[in-house]
Amino acid sequence: MDKTRTFSIITYGCQMNVADSEMIAGVLVKLGFSQIADFKKADLVLVNTCAVRVKPEEKVYGRMSALQHLKEKNPLVLIGLCGCLAQKEREKIVERAPFVDLVFGPQSIGELPELIAAAERSVNHKRAQMKRLKPNQKLKSRLRGAALMGNFENTGDTLPEKDVSRESDFKAYVTVMRGCDNFCSYCVVPYTRGREKSRPFETIVGEVEELVAAGYREITLLGQNVNSYNGGHGKAFPDLLRRLDRIDGKFYIRFMTSHPKDLSDDLIDAMATCPHVAPHAHLPVQSGSTDVLKAMNRRYSREHYLSLVDKMRSRIPHITLTTDIIAGFPGESDADFEDTLSLLEKVRFDSAFLFFYSEREGTAALALPGSLPVEVRLKRLDRLIEEQMRITFDVNRSMVGEIHEGIIEGFSPKNKKEFTVRTFDNHVVIVKAPDGGEPLKFGDFITMKITEGFNFVLKGEITSDFQGRSNAKLIMRP
Ligand code: SAH
Ligand code: SF4
Ligand code: F3S
Repeated sequence: MDKTRTFSIITYGCQMNVADSEMIAGVLVKLGFSQIADFKKADLVLVNTCAVRVKPEEKVYGRMSALQHLKEKNPLVLIGLCGCLAQKEREKIVERAPFVDLVFGPQSIGELPELIAAAERSVNHKRAQMKRLKPNQKLKSRLRGAALMGNFENTGDTLPEKDVSRESDFKAYVTVMRGCDNFCSYCVVPYTRGREKSRPFETIVGEVEELVAAGYREITLLGQNVNSYNGGHGKAFPDLLRRLDRIDGKFYIRFMTSHPKDLSDDLIDAMATCPHVAPHAHLPVQSGSTDVLKAMNRRYSREHYLSLVDKMRSRIPHITLTTDIIAGFPGESDADFEDTLSLLEKVRFDSAFLFFYSEREGTAALALPGSLPVEVRLKRLDRLIEEQMRITFDVNRSMVGEIHEGIIEGFSPKNKKEFTVRTFDNHVVIVKAPDGGEPLKFGDFITMKITEGFNFVLKGEITSDFQGRSNAKLIMRP
């Protein structure tokens, strides 16, 4: 009998890609493969790619030489590229990397069994061929991949949604909608992930019920814009939150991403009233200038955004707010940029993902006047980073003395005697593992007192009451 074939997936990009990698893993496990972490030892290596900005794209191309090296060492290894860059670049990838065997997009994961079968036929063919080749013919042939292509027109109707092999046994991503119809002028996602499609309400409820029954403690609902979720029969996203909140058990519900144009009072109400729903909103603002927002096709104003922040803060005390911002969008004047800085100062986000504008092929922003030199974009990005670091540091220090509940995610990266804990309101805290007593495990709920606030993390001490008592964001203020 053949020994079990192994696979390894290298994932770039957002949580959507992480969730897709778990689906790909599920399909491969069903086909009899087993997953290993070290891609250098796998029979099949898949790279799940991202195309949202230049940097993740460069990271993928940067990996290519390592992959080529793998193929040189073992011509029978299969190499595949999937995800958003694969969808966008398709044939170009094979031109640049002729050693690739499979290329498929996010909507084509359902085609994987056929693609793998074809790829394995090609490996067998190669195995036979290799024996016949003369030594000087070998190198070129060893390097050439099968270049099997998925159907890039696939709209995702065949996605194997039930075949998911999750990495964690306490944290789960659950996709509620796929694709995006917003066409923000800078963004490639509507082109790589196609049109918006919501998964049926009852399917999601059933899936979350199963996950909670299986012991999952953190469910993160995913969509590029969860606020435009439409689960059929008039069920919108707040209805989904309320229904999931009624599931018995102790668990957290998180979600991302919310588009400010569609964030309704009803969503704020659901967040304020559902005890399982984490008091955190990731609400990308992108810019603090209404003119720039218009050019970005975001369809809300600075004032509207600020009014949402006020509403959320008044209904959900201590809510954690995070955002995404793009510096140096075409036409962004000094005054526009100052508006973004002043918005940062006004809102005081707990943290922010800050980017400089990156031209993306096929997007409307390419045709906009007023393109800024890269140095200007980078300089503005640096100022945003500096400003936000100061704010995050202040926020973190202001939390000292608070008692929070959270879930142990793993060891601290620096020290195995410390845990990394994610609080209900989505802050990361490093706590010392207790000496003696019942050992704590990853996935356990704990309560802790915040003792120090730094630039990126908090430090805390586990309080004597290890067991989480309630889904309260903040159990106690000093
Ligand atoms: N659906 C989410 C965002 C997904 S992309 C939303 O609408 O909020 C994640 C982030 O990448 C975006 O919020 C944006 O800040 C950034 N981004 C997307 N395209 C970009 C580009 N061309 N240049 C720079 N940043 C970009
Ligand atoms: Fe991109 Fe805008 Fe869609 Fe977000 S909402 S994925 S930024 S097009
Ligand atoms: Fe990247 Fe695709 Fe996500 S482009 S950010 S992996 S949706």
